[in-house]
Amino acid sequence: MWNCRWVRSTAGLLLGAGLVTLPVLYAADLPKLAEVVAASDLAGAANDLLTSIEPKVADTTALKEAGDEVEHKAYVLALIANGIGRAQGDAAWKKNAGQVREVALKLAKTKSAPEASKLVAEMRSLMAGGGSGAADSEKPWADVSPLKHVMKEVQELRRPISKNTRGAGLKSKKDVVARDAALWAFLGYVARHDTGAAKQAKKSQADYEKFADEFIAGSRALSEAARKGDADAVKKAVSRASKACTDCHEVFRPDVTDDF
Ligand code: HEC
Repeated sequence: MWNCRWVRSTAGLLLGAGLVTLPVLYAADLPKLAEVVAASDLAGAANDLLTSIEPKVADTTALKEAGDEVEHKAYVLALIANGIGRAQGDAAWKKNAGQVREVALKLAKTKSAPEASKLVAEMRSLMAGGGSGAADSEKPWADVSPLKHVMKEVQELRRPISKNTRGAGLKSKKDVVARDAALWAFLGYVARHDTGAAKQAKKSQADYEKFADEFIAGSRALSEAARKGDADAVKKAVSRASKACTDCHEVFRPDVTDDF
């Protein structure tokens, strides 16, 4: 951990002095998750996701009306749980993360409102620190969720990020943007592990990872700039991250035309 903190603070100093830019950190190898996202940002995002799910599992009608939203959010929760143990810093439920992941995966798959409601309550209690820490703390990302849900969440975060970084909005929303962008970086890290997209497109996995790294770096820069309230740097970082979406899709999703 000292090492990681050293890297961060050194990078911060160099960045402050305008000597290097973030991609240096992600030049070649897979970045460590602890260098990508803080456990507190993941825990905060997970808490909000769970709160947004709660009313949707209240009864059968609510669950039906929610369509695939509960399933989607449950997959994102499972991904967060799979990563939080290796994220930087502490969170109340780090030791129970494996259990949270398993409950989230059950939630993603159930169609029964009473069961979903029970699983949500179980997750709440695990996230409050209850639980035995028994389940495996990590699984391969592809075994947790399809890339589709990773991207769907990346897309859902785009709306609040663009809204809250426009004009005077940033001032009151900088912490929200900082956390949303931290979640972007995390989802970029998860996406980077995918090997199916490159295979399907018959293109280079190394190129795919380069785009993912660029997206992680742009999102990290955005998170840091937002936390500082640096509007110019925020604008640049949003463009950088958005360009990574388009660039990656151009090669790895040529069938889809982006409108962003
Ligand atoms: C490293 C490459 C890469 C980056 C970066 C990337 N994407 Fe994607 N995206 C993909 C691939 C590959 C798919 C197809 C996933 C699948 O369905 O298997 C996809 C799918 C999607 C989808 C369709 C999801 C669905 O419901 O089927 C959306 C929306 C999307 N991306 C938005 C974004 C946005 C917005 C960004 C940036 C903020 C972004 N992507 C960044 C590779 C990328």
